Amino acid sequence: MSYQEVVKEVREKQNIDLAQLRLLLGETTKENIEYLYKNAREVADEIYGKRVFKRGLIEFTNYCKNDCYYCGIRRSNATTERYRLEKETILDCCKKGYDLGYRTFVLQGGEDGYFTDERICEIVSAIHKEYPDCAITLSIGEKSKESYQKYFEAGANRYLLRHETANNEHYKMLHPGYLSLKKRKQCLWDLKEIGYQVGCGFMVGSPYQTIETLYEDLQFIKELEPHMVGIGPFIPQRETPFAKETAGTLDMTLKLLAIIRLIHPHVLLPATTALGTIHENGRELGVLAGANVIMPNLSPADVRDKYKLYDNKACTGDEAVEGDKNLRLRMEQIGYELVCDRGDFQ
Ligand code: 5AD
Repeated sequence: MSYQEVVKEVREKQNIDLAQLRLLLGETTKENIEYLYKNAREVADEIYGKRVFKRGLIEFTNYCKNDCYYCGIRRSNATTERYRLEKETILDCCKKGYDLGYRTFVLQGGEDGYFTDERICEIVSAIHKEYPDCAITLSIGEKSKESYQKYFEAGANRYLLRHETANNEHYKMLHPGYLSLKKRKQCLWDLKEIGYQVGCGFMVGSPYQTIETLYEDLQFIKELEPHMVGIGPFIPQRETPFAKETAGTLDMTLKLLAIIRLIHPHVLLPATTALGTIHENGRELGVLAGANVIMPNLSPADVRDKYKLYDNKACTGDEAVEGDKNLRLRMEQIGYELVCDRGDFQ
């Protein structure tokens, strides 16, 4: 079977096997790769139209009790200057975003014990009360089902928790021993059961990743049927144990975005900041490969450079909300409309 026939089959069956994945990821002919992207784009356009949704990302704490080997805000990184945003500051961020047409706010942070359930609920309720027409997404890590339930009742409706890798051995190579894939997956199932729109995801090109582990990631996506999938290239951070590892590539990330679109057509799929960091047009290229969400930074300018998950993180140009108009133009240039809408799963 030719490359293009495999693309067609994956699209029709909305599924992929290991041999097909190997073939699609290993391709180097430009024309064939373009064909993969074109198919992914068609699938996204059929469901969501030529529209890209925007989410305002508020990175409200970079304290974290965890010590993931890849992450720049890991506990052991003593060089990171830590910060937390007050509820009022977070609300100011929402106001700024709302005025720019943002209808989804994503509260992301490390696993920070200061933010007890009570504090999280207070913040979520306040946003919900002030902006009842907006979706509230949380991305604050592993919690008990009871905690997730409380946040949901306070008004949160979506939750992002990347599974990072669906292979046990690989998971152990990326995380300290006290963290487990089983627990992480359970969190995702709990969130789904409560009624959240959930997002899983992984880094592309993380150390020790193989085609086989990627295949397991895709199988996990098929099994979980998440509403969102966040993927972006792994980028080494100098103060982590993975400082000297190689970054994931643009090519692999785009191919995987396209494949995820083909096998899970309705997914809300962001062209992530990490993708925009490794290539100046990374986000446009992501949309052209099947992505349909962009998450500009809504955090106050003075803390942005402290949320350093990885080196050279893009945070001051068009990837931030200040670049909203520019971002809209960039999307128009590739034939997409940046819409002011909650952008719910369809
Ligand atoms: N490179 C790319 N992505 C990273 N993340 C954490 N560290 C890095 C890194 N060095 C991603 C993880 C996490 C998300 C918030 O950011 O996948 O889930």
